[in-house]
Amino acid sequence: MAKIAARRGSDLTGKVDDFDWSVEAAVLERYGRGARAREAGLCCPTSYDPACLEKLPREILEKDYGCGDPSRHVGEGERVLDLGSGAGKVCYILAQKVGPKGSVTGADFNDEMLAVARKYQAEMARKLGHANTRFVKARIQDLALDLERVDLWLDANPVSSSSGLHALEAECNRLRREEPLIADETIDVVVSNCVLNLVAPRDRLHLFQEIHRVLRRGGRAVISDIVCDREPEPAIRKDPELWSGCIAGAFREEALLEMFEEAGFHGIEILERSERPWKVVEGVDFRSLTVRAYKGKEGPCIDDGQAVIYRGPWKEVRDDDGHVFVRGRRAPVCRKTHDILTNPAGPYAGEVLPVGPLPGPQDATGQCGSGCC
Ligand SMILES: C[S@@+](CC[C@H](N)C(=O)[O-])C[C@H]1O[C@@H](n2cnc3c(N)ncnc32)[C@H](O)[C@@H]1O
Repeated sequence: MAKIAARRGSDLTGKVDDFDWSVEAAVLERYGRGARAREAGLCCPTSYDPACLEKLPREILEKDYGCGDPSRHVGEGERVLDLGSGAGKVCYILAQKVGPKGSVTGADFNDEMLAVARKYQAEMARKLGHANTRFVKARIQDLALDLERVDLWLDANPVSSSSGLHALEAECNRLRREEPLIADETIDVVVSNCVLNLVAPRDRLHLFQEIHRVLRRGGRAVISDIVCDREPEPAIRKDPELWSGCIAGAFREEALLEMFEEAGFHGIEILERSERPWKVVEGVDFRSLTVRAYKGKEGPCIDDGQAVIYRGPWKEVRDDDGHVFVRGRRAPVCRKTHDILTNPAGPYAGEVLPVGPLPGPQDATGQCGSGCC
């Protein structure tokens, strides 16, 4: 608890905003400008699979404000959600990676960015020979709420009093409940490229819970974002221009991984970390990090005598449920942990050897009473 409190205090997460400006207004304004004309200073240059870039329109290539390439960790046939899809570059790359059997949804709250991305939908479908991409208007920390439905409702019911505000809130709750934009457990992979750092501090815990909610069991998040190596001065954190420029809201490196842990993910791993910082501001390094995290460790813990042996090379390792695996030693685990550890498509593929129960009375020191259930 102390650790979480300390991190929240120093990383903005979970705190009520204490800025005298609105994070969302600053971000909307900056990326509205970025949709109208290319802004060279926004987010760091990165490299993508050149074969996937060939078919992309020039405007989309130019209005690229990413900092990594989560698309290279996505496979054929998968249902992908891109958080903060901007002009759509990653979505149109993904459309080629997942192919006609997969689907790609880009979510962004900026009308002008959505308009750029949507402008090329028909052209891209023609070029690729399949139409598997859609763009939706949503705040990524509230993926159940379809903001285009909210806009339509507001056209018909302009709000000019507190009772109007209550009616709007009721309609938003109804939409989330009855017609969720992104329903529970409907996505195989959530990706994002240089967006999570833009979300207001008060919404960050909810953002990670939303990523967890929309993923199917066994699904994963692959997130590229800007992180910093230590806590910047408050003056940096509170600068609106640095915020919308992907600096002020950057997670500290370890805090980004801890956020996944706290939201119930497992198998959390750094896939890429740029060696050179993208920017150095008052001695703090800001660089790109790509992280992967899996959903699926919740659920009942049923002991049916399964066990695994950790192969090494580390002397011992500990999973996100607190099980410790000692190199070469048989470790009794519940069925759920066994399946997670031995899943060939999961994060621990090849790390352990599955072994059946020993004959005779079972080892009473099975670990699964202590964490995962
Ligand atoms: C740095 S740009 C990245 C765009 C795109 N991912 C790329 O790689 O080019 C950030 C994008 O996220 C969107 N965005 C920022 N905060 C958001 C939020 N809370 N909800 C939805 N979209 C958001 C912005 O409108 C903008 O299009």
